[in-house]
Amino acid sequence: MAISKEINDQKKYIEKIKEINKDKKLKYSILTMGCQLNENDSEKICGMLEEMGYVKTTNNDEVDLAVMNTCCVRENAEDKLFGKLGELKRLKENRGTIVAIGGCMMQEKHITDKIKESYPFVDMIFGTHTLYKFPEDLYKVIEEKNKLIDILDIDGKVFEGLPIKRDSKVKASVTIMNGCNNFCSYCIVPYVRGRERSRMPKDIIDEVTELAKKGYKEITLLGQNVNSYLRVERENNVEFEEYQGINSFATLLEAINKIDGIERIRFVSPHPKDFTDDVIDAIAKCDKVCKLIHLPLQAGSTEILKVMNRKYTKEQYLELVEKMKAKIPNLTLSTDIIVGFPGETDEDFEDTLDVVKKVCFEQVYMFIYSRRIGTPGDKMENQVPDEIKHKHFDRLKELVESQIEKNNQKYIGTIQKVLVEGKSKNNENMLTGRTDSNKVVIFEGSEDLIDKMIDLKIISEHMWYLKGVVNG
Ligand code: SAH
Ligand code: SF4
Ligand code: F3S
Repeated sequence: MAISKEINDQKKYIEKIKEINKDKKLKYSILTMGCQLNENDSEKICGMLEEMGYVKTTNNDEVDLAVMNTCCVRENAEDKLFGKLGELKRLKENRGTIVAIGGCMMQEKHITDKIKESYPFVDMIFGTHTLYKFPEDLYKVIEEKNKLIDILDIDGKVFEGLPIKRDSKVKASVTIMNGCNNFCSYCIVPYVRGRERSRMPKDIIDEVTELAKKGYKEITLLGQNVNSYLRVERENNVEFEEYQGINSFATLLEAINKIDGIERIRFVSPHPKDFTDDVIDAIAKCDKVCKLIHLPLQAGSTEILKVMNRKYTKEQYLELVEKMKAKIPNLTLSTDIIVGFPGETDEDFEDTLDVVKKVCFEQVYMFIYSRRIGTPGDKMENQVPDEIKHKHFDRLKELVESQIEKNNQKYIGTIQKVLVEGKSKNNENMLTGRTDSNKVVIFEGSEDLIDKMIDLKIISEHMWYLKGVVNG
């Protein structure tokens, strides 16, 4: 892997901070909001911090450096950040804790303005494009005791070689592309994550091969629009180094499928408009690619989809589902749905219910539309009143839950391959893992089953999880 001068410079800052922190046993905490991409970024922040000698803690009373990695896709994330900042103010006063905030929300000017004005104790603000410079920025805060704001509006380059401290020993996320070019009219992501840019095939293959050697069994490929991997590069004739024949998302899946030791491959999020036949064929062909596919619908009404700028109709979405079901044995689907987008009528909403009834999703992530400053949706005049949004949300939730319950029945009595992740959070005596279709299964078993792929017989369903017993 080619490590750029920029990253080598950052490694020098890591060393400098390590020297300053020597023997101090300083502690850091990190709060991550948002999607798996942000979680992956946080793993990189943790990797850098631990190389600097910081030790992670969840005990607020001993925190020397508090990091927050923010999301701004919906309004509730803002409420969470500002609630947390009140708490951090006390920490700052009591122990002089360094407060650093980064992530998507920091790319929004009205937010950084508010922090500067109302929360002047914040030491460091960094954006999504300057994450790789975290060591240098932190060094300046420590050494020069300056407040520091480091945000770039232009798209950050793809940097390789940052340290990473992963949360799990069995499942790992690998970011394959950054940014989004789709500009769905409700969505803030393209404004805070910049334009699409893909990592080079060899860097991804090297990372996954390394993970397999360390014993990781499940890989999740991440990107705001994973199935357009290398598309921008192809369309604009940007030269890139092909490796093992990889020049698209489908060929990337095929190459990763060949890596020994990896047993499961997942990916989020694909866009229905980029679900080309080669991708469908690759999923069908690659035995390690999980057959649960996340296919964000957002809305069922063709009219609303058009205003959302999703570039498919209700019928095209349903046709795609049919094609995928025909080609991919044991396919299951999950989706994202927004209710209450501007102009959504009762009739439009019925279309959403209709698609949900027809597809029968394994899982539906439901969101109430949230106005985001700077997006076209925010400027639309026909905003839906809150009580209608909530009424529709409740109806959708009812339908989804009844479908999930019915769907869960199909599992009872079947044998499922489950990757065991650890002890169940709610019951110390049980272990927990997931099926190919990403269903949580809890079961009794000895701890040496953790990190293993085992067969479980499903004995009962409990809406959000299944119960199983070790088979044989
Ligand atoms: N790139 C991915 C994920 C985007 S964010 C994709 O296209 O699927 C994850 C989900 O948040 C979206 O799929 C959408 O359902 C939801 N979302 C995005 N903006 C939103 C908004 N303004 N209000 C409510 N939900 C939103
Ligand atoms: Fe947002 Fe649409 Fe891009 Fe997904 S594809 S990140 S919903 S703009
Ligand atoms: Fe949120 Fe940024 Fe992800 S806005 S959903 S953390 S890309």
